[in-house]
Amino acid sequence: MNAAAPFTRLPTTEEWAPAISGVYLHVPFCASDCAYCAFAREVPASRAAVDTYLDALAVEARAWRKRLGGRIRPLTLYVGGGTPTFLTPGEWDRLESALAELVDPARVTEVTVEANPETATAERLARLREFGMTRLSLGAQALSTEMLRFLDRTHEWSTVTDALARAGAHDGLVTSVDLIYGIPGLEPGEWARTVDAALELPIEHLSAYCLSYEEGTSLARRRAEGRLEGQPDDVQRRAYDRLAACVEARGLERYEVSNFGTPRGRSRHNLTYWEGESISVSAPPRTRTFAASGSAVTRSGRCGNARCAMRRGRWRTSRPWANTSDARRS
Ligand SMILES: C[S@@+](CC[C@H](N)C(=O)[O-])C[C@H]1O[C@@H](n2cnc3c(N)ncnc32)[C@H](O)[C@@H]1O
Ligand code: SF4
Repeated sequence: MNAAAPFTRLPTTEEWAPAISGVYLHVPFCASDCAYCAFAREVPASRAAVDTYLDALAVEARAWRKRLGGRIRPLTLYVGGGTPTFLTPGEWDRLESALAELVDPARVTEVTVEANPETATAERLARLREFGMTRLSLGAQALSTEMLRFLDRTHEWSTVTDALARAGAHDGLVTSVDLIYGIPGLEPGEWARTVDAALELPIEHLSAYCLSYEEGTSLARRRAEGRLEGQPDDVQRRAYDRLAACVEARGLERYEVSNFGTPRGRSRHNLTYWEGESISVSAPPRTRTFAASGSAVTRSGRCGNARCAMRRGRWRTSRPWANTSDARRS
């Protein structure tokens, strides 16, 4: 480095590509909207929108490969949304092919996929396992049906336990659930019951997010119109403290602001965000939602603007991530 003028230029893609340790892949589709969510996503009018997105994703991946002069070799892969499990197995084949344009899976050791509990069917879990999924992250959000409906979620707590039971059929699969606290009307007693119920689940990782009022969401609109009152900060703080005080006895350690996990359950990908080592891949803006987000990179209410990604495997078949299972067990 030139000591006199250390930062006179940006790194070239050839220089930074080898340093990318995590890749986030975005699936911007959901079956329905949630009252709080401002992630880049849409409820598609038809499957044609999904096809268009998958075509665009392949074009984008090829363009990046060309720009970088080859495929990148990350350690982690994170497929988030939206709802990745909104994709049918056939659509998942196409997503996998697009990803293969850009990513060499040889070093990938962690593959996380986000799912809504009601979409984590046996068929889809089997397909994701084939893909190489090592971690499944389910959006549980709340214990009571009343809170779930307030958030516009369509599932029940029992849908979460059923999905985890199906996931349990896959040896070595790490499971995680997301919870939301700070919801108007979520009394401390109800939150304590939610924490207890979550800690009884067969999970190795838990994410807990404080409800945020994101521009353009139904909750933000209702609050701005004076029809909804947010929860006071001190109630939210106590909810977080309550969770943080209980997790350790269950073997989950706080390793990041909103994330708790066993040593095996931790998301290496999450940590790449904090260390600035991940990139996000999604097709360019197509819909109003994307245009509004101002970027092809997904917005994350959790930890900045990207999340994410994988490990040691061999690229042997047209389903490259399938080859990671031996390494996973080692
Ligand atoms: C991309 S979303 C989840 C994936 C999946 N579609 C689901 O809903 O189960 C990731 C997580 O972010 C959290 N989240 C999204 N918007 C939020 C908000 N406004 N406030 C707090 N948490 C939020 C939710 O817990 C959600 O499960
Ligand atoms: S929380 Fe999940 S299911 Fe709900 S709109 Fe956002 S991405 Fe879709």
